[in-house]
Amino acid sequence: MSETLVTGASGTLGRALLPRLVDAGVAVRAASRSPPDEEVEVDAQEWPESTEGSAEWVELDLADGTGIESAVADVDTVVHAASAPTGDTEAVDVRGTERLLDVAASVGVEHVVYVSIVGIDEIPYAYYQHKLTAERAVESSDVPATILRATQFHAFVDEILGTVSRLPVWPLPTRFRVQPVDHREVADALVDCATGEPRGRVPPVGGPEVRTLGELATAYREARGLRRPIVRLPVPGSIASAFREGRATCPDRAVGTTTWEEWLASEYRDKSEPTAAPPAGAPS
Ligand SMILES: NC(=O)c1ccc[n+]([C@@H]2O[C@H](COP(=O)([O-])OP(=O)(O)OC[C@H]3O[C@@H](n4cnc5c(N)ncnc54)[C@H](OP(=O)(O)O)[C@@H]3O)[C@@H](O)[C@H]2O)c1
Repeated sequence: MSETLVTGASGTLGRALLPRLVDAGVAVRAASRSPPDEEVEVDAQEWPESTEGSAEWVELDLADGTGIESAVADVDTVVHAASAPTGDTEAVDVRGTERLLDVAASVGVEHVVYVSIVGIDEIPYAYYQHKLTAERAVESSDVPATILRATQFHAFVDEILGTVSRLPVWPLPTRFRVQPVDHREVADALVDCATGEPRGRVPPVGGPEVRTLGELATAYREARGLRRPIVRLPVPGSIASAFREGRATCPDRAVGTTTWEEWLASEYRDKSEPTAAPPAGAPS
């Protein structure tokens, strides 16, 4: 039976991808550095009982190549979703991708699906440059490939705002324009790619709306019942101006359907922080 390797299987996208591939009848080998029994937790909601036991886990470290041969052995397809945006992106995203491609080519893998990010060729951010180099390595590899770009995930925006929300005021580049998408919708698109023929670059997947970060933060604050002020942080430089110009968006590919507000409602419906009781004697 043919098998599909998913790198980055413990990440946000990878965890959504596994059950979808299994549901599509694909035998899955899931790879990450951390074995599932330790730090990797598969979200019960995203890992239906019916799919338990259908994915085999292997340890893989793309930064030094540990486990790469056994991860790739006997697979037909590789969905490459591992990335280290806050780590050594050159070692993992560039060299790791090149290593993975070399091994995949040497054992005759038939299809590599690479997930990338909208606008990386127009935003001079170091991580994006590394993703671009990785895309080029995928394109020039002997392994037939499909490259799918996506806009920022709702979960990623949520994570950033969660960090900022601990501050007394929220300093944010409020004019950045983004088009957040539900990563589960990106996972759906990746399953289509992984179960089809290699197609080269396919049209990107963007969320349903282009919004400013200020609008997203305001909606987030409301959904969580928070009150701290949002302060516009003026950010100079070409990276910031590219984000303000909406270079990370693809409005003509607004194929995701879950809006930011819908995402927030499902994430925070029962989790909004209790609002402080009004002081005694305050007008009601
Ligand atoms: N987040 C977004 O908004 C967004 C938007 C568009 C596209 N993308 C792309 O989608 C992909 C997945 O993103 P994500 O947000 O799901 O990422 P994530 O949650 O940060 O997960 C990253 C994954 O990579 C693995 N990884 C990290 N370092 C590794 C190493 N040295 N060797 C092997 N595996 C390693 C991690 O597992 P371990 O730490 O256990 O090894 C984890 O499974 C990435 O290619 C990203 O560029 C993301």
